[in-house]
Amino acid sequence: MARAPLGQTHDLAGLPYLDEEVLLAELKHRYNGDQIYSYVGDILVAINPFRDLGIYGQKYADQYKQTKRKDNPPHIFAVSDLSYQFMLSGNAVGGKRNQCIVISGESGAGKTESTKLIIKQLIELCKGKSQLEQQILQVNPLLEAFGNAQTVMNDNSSRFGKYIQLKFKQGTVMGAKISEYLLEKSRVVFQNPGEENFHIFYYMLAGLDEEMKKKLQLENASDYLYLRNGPSCLKNNPAGLKKYFDELINAMDLVGFLEEEKEDMFHILASVLALGQLKIEANEEDAAYVTNPEAAQKVGDLLGIAKEDLMSALTYTTSVAHGERFQRNYSKAQAHDARDAMTKALYGRLFSWIVNKINQLLAPEEQLDPSQASEIGILDIFGFEHLQTNSFEQACINLANEQLQFFFNQHIFLLEQDEYKREGIDWSNIPFVNNEPLLGLFMAKPIGILALVDEETLFPQGNDHSLVEKMNKHFARNHHYIKAKISTSNTFSIDHYAGRVSYNATGFLDKNRDTLPNGVTTILQNSSNDLLARIFRGTITRTGTLALQNRLSKKRSRKSLKKRGGPKGTVKKITVGAQFKTSLAILMELLNKSNPHFVRCVKPNTSKSARNFDDTYVTAQLRYTGMLETTKIRRLGYAIRPQFADFVNRYNVLALSPKLATDHRGCVKILETIGLKDWKVGKTKLFLKYYHQDMLEEKMRKMGESAVHLTRLVRGFLARRLFRRLNAKAAKEKAESEAFLAKVAALSLKQTNNMMDMLQKDKMIPHEFVEKLHNSTGVVMFDANAPIIQEPEPIIVVEKAAPPKRTMRMRMTTMMKMMT
Ligand SMILES: Nc1ncnc2c1ncn2[C@@H]1O[C@H](COP(=O)(O)OP(=O)(O)OP(=O)(O)O)[C@@H](O)[C@H]1O
Ligand SMILES: [Mg+2]
Repeated sequence: MARAPLGQTHDLAGLPYLDEEVLLAELKHRYNGDQIYSYVGDILVAINPFRDLGIYGQKYADQYKQTKRKDNPPHIFAVSDLSYQFMLSGNAVGGKRNQCIVISGESGAGKTESTKLIIKQLIELCKGKSQLEQQILQVNPLLEAFGNAQTVMNDNSSRFGKYIQLKFKQGTVMGAKISEYLLEKSRVVFQNPGEENFHIFYYMLAGLDEEMKKKLQLENASDYLYLRNGPSCLKNNPAGLKKYFDELINAMDLVGFLEEEKEDMFHILASVLALGQLKIEANEEDAAYVTNPEAAQKVGDLLGIAKEDLMSALTYTTSVAHGERFQRNYSKAQAHDARDAMTKALYGRLFSWIVNKINQLLAPEEQLDPSQASEIGILDIFGFEHLQTNSFEQACINLANEQLQFFFNQHIFLLEQDEYKREGIDWSNIPFVNNEPLLGLFMAKPIGILALVDEETLFPQGNDHSLVEKMNKHFARNHHYIKAKISTSNTFSIDHYAGRVSYNATGFLDKNRDTLPNGVTTILQNSSNDLLARIFRGTITRTGTLALQNRLSKKRSRKSLKKRGGPKGTVKKITVGAQFKTSLAILMELLNKSNPHFVRCVKPNTSKSARNFDDTYVTAQLRYTGMLETTKIRRLGYAIRPQFADFVNRYNVLALSPKLATDHRGCVKILETIGLKDWKVGKTKLFLKYYHQDMLEEKMRKMGESAVHLTRLVRGFLARRLFRRLNAKAAKEKAESEAFLAKVAALSLKQTNNMMDMLQKDKMIPHEFVEKLHNSTGVVMFDANAPIIQEPEPIIVVEKAAPPKRTMRMRMTTMMKMMT
């Protein structure tokens, strides 16, 4: 088939001819024309422009409000608009009110920016400008300060995953909830060359005033070991960092953090940096000791703990056996590990506390009635990573990406094609790369990578190398697992959906254990820093997040800890791998309960530069995300598959037929009445193209408009008829009353004439006779000749519009008066 000229359609699923080359050429053509967004059916593809295109202002916000997708060019705001509309209408034919927006792409592809834009537009759609909405908008910059860092892939890379649920009641946002996933804590103590620590440290050093810096005993950034790669950015742009710091404080104030909480928080952050300055050496007996106690003093001051307690906790451990107390000294390496573990725990728990605090402040004020409540969730997790050295964190990050790719495949290919088969739809399968076996390689029990890592973690003799040996043995026949050529190596490779990644298992077991020396926990729990004591009294949940205790007084709280045998005694330690697996499972459960919207972010080049479309790099991303197959299935397949009854119940008005069967006959009647083409009828469901939904909703809208128009006509008709009837009745009554009046007038005229006659006759009787008769007999006789004392009342002229009864009564009264 001849190729159509480029740029003819916003929806690549609508291209008449399709192959990888065409797909790439279309995307490139659009990108070069600053059209970074394209549709593939109902999926939005977004190419990172790496520059401000000026397409997110008010004009665009207004353009994407309550619109149909086909009426506007593709845009990230359209995703907000559509999910909001689906939420309000119960997802049109799908029946699910809750929506989720799944944003994927590799590191630096634009997921976090997209998340922020989606939330911004959702808040815009809720219309109001309430305080809660402003607070929600501040959540992202706040989390980014603590959870993002500069990496080789991205200057603002998210080093944690998040799922933000916006909670609505009848379309109005009522609150928000954030779930965090696996913060890369190891970054606090070590960064790869060319990478930085979390942004907050640089913001803090650039932004705090001199007095506070003095209080926190802060040094120059270049002096800190934990910031060894970072000072360049501080030197280059201190004004920019100060601005970010001010924005962060502003965001914290807006969300509702208290002054004393912020102060405690800065003390903890300063102590993290100070801990890195502790110097540890070993004596001749290989026992570790701190060579600069003044640094320990500083940490102790900042954390509100005794210097001696800190130095002991980091250099030796004590145990009691047979009533005797034993001290086991740490080696230099062990003491370094203890110090780093303490630093990571401080930062990790502080981060969790921030998320907790945000959730507490943004929780809906009232218990939402489930029949009125709904939500839109936005998933922004760390992108796929393939670094020079890949460790346990990369394995977890890439596993999460595998899981998301599987979720995508499930929706786009697996479930859909299975359903065609089950429902007897004529269909030839579109092949796609199913990554389910890879998920199995990681998560299978008892022999999956995570299970083996756990096994070796708990095994007293287990170490990183014995782990690799076990994996080499168990996965020898797995196509996705590649063992290292050198048997002594700690490396292994995995063929991920997005390419081969080589992992170095050194440190896997330690990172999976993530233990904190007991002594450290105890001294931190008893710190005079309120916030610190709270976050260390809290427990770590099975998903790795922090569960805080209710605020208790220190005394009570210590007692309750004792009663439960202390925090370490009761809570079974769950490994990091197991926590991550559980949190992924919970996330998937949430996503499966919602109606998904997919945003595929694409990175145009590796140099983070604008106007630079690297064909090979983009092709690789299109390939591993299965974009060509996705386009095909969206073009040929039936993305919308409602149950017969659901469909009839929603669209029966379109058939203009009062009694419609809620089975396939009813569906066919509706579809034929409105003239839709290319649908199929299965055994229990209808099979519709993705664009049918828009068409159906458009018909419903028109029908709604017609109904309003019709109602207007009918109301007009009824009103006119009523008016006519009332008018006729009024005319009749008017005629009747006029006739009556005429009769009365005639009668009164006759009476008057009679009286005048009588008066005339009476005039002939002399006045003296009348008087005499009265005096002698008492008879009263009308004396026409008597002098007139009072003029008779004039006849009242009755107004025409006055009611006839009253007119008559008045008339009679007048007559009576006249007659007496
Ligand atoms: N729509 C956009 N317009 C302009 N610039 C953008 C856009 N999207 C992304 N960028 C630029 O790309 C950078 C990286 O984007 P982002 O942080 O969203 O990537 P990410 O996919 O979240 O990566 P990671 O997985 O590392 O967190 C941003 O800091 C910004 O400079
Ligand atoms: Mg990000």
